[in-house]
Amino acid sequence: MPVTVGITTSTFGREDPEPLDLLKQARIEWRLNPYGRKLQPEETIHFLREADGVIAGTEILDHAVLGQLPRMQVISRVGVGLENVDLAYAEQRGIRVFSTPDGPTQGVAELTLGGLLAVLRGVARSDAAVRRGDWKKPMGHLLQGKTVGLIGLGRIGRAFAVLVRPFAVSLIAFDVDPDLTAAQKLGVQFVGLEEILAQSDVVSLHLSGVAARPLLGEQEFLRMKPGAVVVNTARGGWLDEKALAQSLRNGHLGGAYLDVFEEEPYRGPLAELANVVLTPHLGSYAAECRLRMEAEAARHVVAFFGGREGKRPEAFR
Ligand code: 8YV
Repeated sequence: MPVTVGITTSTFGREDPEPLDLLKQARIEWRLNPYGRKLQPEETIHFLREADGVIAGTEILDHAVLGQLPRMQVISRVGVGLENVDLAYAEQRGIRVFSTPDGPTQGVAELTLGGLLAVLRGVARSDAAVRRGDWKKPMGHLLQGKTVGLIGLGRIGRAFAVLVRPFAVSLIAFDVDPDLTAAQKLGVQFVGLEEILAQSDVVSLHLSGVAARPLLGEQEFLRMKPGAVVVNTARGGWLDEKALAQSLRNGHLGGAYLDVFEEEPYRGPLAELANVVLTPHLGSYAAECRLRMEAEAARHVVAFFGGREGKRPEAFR
């Protein structure tokens, strides 16, 4: 019987047929997500019921879902985050899990810089105003010479540091597992979280995994410099969105750029504020990144069903 995989990432193979060709050459059959969006748990169970593997997006693959999928042998994430997968249960079941840790890095780092500059110069609100026929010029700020505080200096934090360095910024970072060599190379100085909050003009989140509770909430925003900008392209739970909206509304913080949210799609108070730029979790949505991620995810599946050992995700090392 041929091997069948369900592909839940809704844009898989759209930009380039190479990832699907890789499956075809290996005689692996596939089914594409018919909903064109992230699946709900019941839909995931229904869609993957006959599948031997899944090329997965961010849909929930927890004990309750995987428990209904007795044929499932391999989960190959198109992406770096694995918080949607119950890794302990997968291991117990002998389901192999793979991810694509490097693919999104440059896409997220570039978008972080773009979103930050857009906030600093009021790009999004000016664009909306011009389209409405309003010709207004909001006064912005330079990035040059500012202190940028990075919370998390892993792959994406480092790639972002490379991009902002030419703006002659001071770079400080907080990381629970500081890589001193990488920081030195990039001219980044490790400090405590309190110093990040007190000294930064821009605080940018680059943490992996999900937060048990927000790292940045009302108290932390209060401790930040007046006019500071908050950026989150990591995961929604790391900051308290309501507290952020409040701090922006009362004029303490100067602006924010968010690509990720506690609940996606986002509908909430930040959408009403002018000094905020919001995007729909599109960090890795650069065609070059997606192709790399999709092809790598397909190769993991091909290697797995071909009996070859693919690269194991970090969470399993
Ligand atoms: C999404 C991401 O996974 O890599 C990650 O963890 O957050 C994103 O790349 C991706 O958009 C879903 O396919």
